[in-house]
Formats: sequence, C-alpha cells, structure tokens
Amino acid sequence: MKKISLGIYRQDPSADRKGKIVKYHVPVEEGMVVLDAVRHVQENTDPTLAVRWNCKAARCGSCAAEINGVPKLMCKTRIEDIGDDITVEPMRSFTLVKDLVTDISPAWAVARSLPHFHPRQRSVHPFRIEEMDVERSQEFRKCIECMLCMDVCHVKREHNTSYVGPRYIVKAASLDMHPMDSLDRSKFLDREGGIGYCNVTKCCQAICPAHIRITENAIIPEKERAADLFYDPLMMLLKRLRKVKD
Ligand code: SF4
Ligand code: SF4
Ligand code: FES
Repeated sequence: MKKISLGIYRQDPSADRKGKIVKYHVPVEEGMVVLDAVRHVQENTDPTLAVRWNCKAARCGSCAAEINGVPKLMCKTRIEDIGDDITVEPMRSFTLVKDLVTDISPAWAVARSLPHFHPRQRSVHPFRIEEMDVERSQEFRKCIECMLCMDVCHVKREHNTSYVGPRYIVKAASLDMHPMDSLDRSKFLDREGGIGYCNVTKCCQAICPAHIRITENAIIPEKERAADLFYDPLMMLLKRLRKVKD
C-alpha cells in the first residue's frame, strides 16, 4: 500500500514541551482525506495525539487546521489533491491547547458582544419577505463556525487588535440585512469592532469552506454603511438636523 509522509505539529503547553513537527509514514487508500491520515496516527501510532473533529462531513467546523500552510478543513481535504508530503499544523490565530487543538472561545466572546436580533416594534401583518432577502440570509447562514476565516485574516493573525474578524462581520451583516431587524450594527463594527482594519484582501472569502462571499457580501456593505453613517458629509448634516429637531 502506498505511504505518505505526514508531518504533524506536536506540542503540549501544559507539560511545557516545545512545539515541533513530528513525521509519520501513513498508508493511504484512494479517497482518503487528511483527517483519515491524522486519525490513523492517533489510532495506530500515538493515542496521545490531540485532534478535534466531529462530523467528518464539513458540517461541524471542528477539524479546522493549517494544511501545508493553508487554513482548511481536514475532513474536506483529499490527500490525492495535495500530494505525498503533507504537514498539518494548528490554527495560528488561536491559543494552542495541545497538538492540533486550539482554544476558539475568545471568538464566542465576540459573538456575545454583537448586538442581537432586535425585531421591529410595529411589524406588518402578514409579514412578507422578498426572495432576494431570503437568498441573502441563507448565504450567511451557511457558516459552520470553523473559524478558518479568522485564522487566515492577517489582521487577526499578525496584529493584536480589537478587530471582530470576518466571521462576526458575516453574523452582523446577516442581522442587519434581515428585513425584520431594527438595528444598524455598522456603528458597533466601526467603533468597537475595528472594521476599518480590514483592507479587503479577500483572503477570508477565498478559503471559506461554506463558499460565503464574505468580503463582497458582508464586509464591503458593512464598511459602506459605516462610511455613510460617519464620514458622508450629507449624512452627517442630516443627523445634526435631526438632533436639532428632536
Ligand atoms: S464564514 Fe466561512 S470560514 Fe468563516 S467561520 Fe463561517 S464557514 Fe468558516
Ligand atoms: S478581507 Fe478583511 S477580514 Fe478578510 S482576510 Fe482580508 S483583512 Fe481579513
Ligand atoms: S469533522 Fe466536522 S467539519 Fe470536519
């Protein structure tokens, strides 16, 4: 049976062990994905290897890692597509727990800080939703919270900023574009969320396994709303006039 060279990042911060890539030789069959190879090592060579996975169907988002330096889902990456020499490392934007497992709980804290869905006071009966609004909302709901977009984002990766990151701009956009929601989260994204740090490189959009057009359909519209709100002189004048009237 054909074998591949599989390098896996091994580190146990609780045991104060330094991190290193350990090489394994794994037999592979046609159709195997990277997660299969990593689990083969765990089951046959070293049961102490820490790896997180759940569905093996690109649905739960828990097997996110960096495969040959690119953030990907291990269960969706076929070995025959990437060759015989593979290196798997944990996501670098999050604190390491052990081996391939990282702590993504800071992202949940961001989720909690985002203004929640706030329905309009006077709703129209019967409420009708346009097809376009349904499609827009469906796109954002495809997110599996794998955090690969947060991992690839150079702002999150290299700078210790308060930037909420692409996943939560997608979340904010899904609420802002809901026809029954009454809030505008662009103020939050501009002030607390640091959306100005994003320079629209589209790296997050390129790696999203759910194929969400993160930059085009979420980040750019939210940036434009924030720009209209805070930097458009006409809007600023209107806001001032409204205040005087109130
Ligand atoms: S937006 Fe895409 S890459 Fe980001 S968490 Fe959701 S599914 Fe993952
Ligand atoms: S487009 Fe913005 S959020 Fe996406 S990776 Fe680039 S800087 Fe990060
Ligand atoms: S194991 Fe669920 S997304 Fe990979």
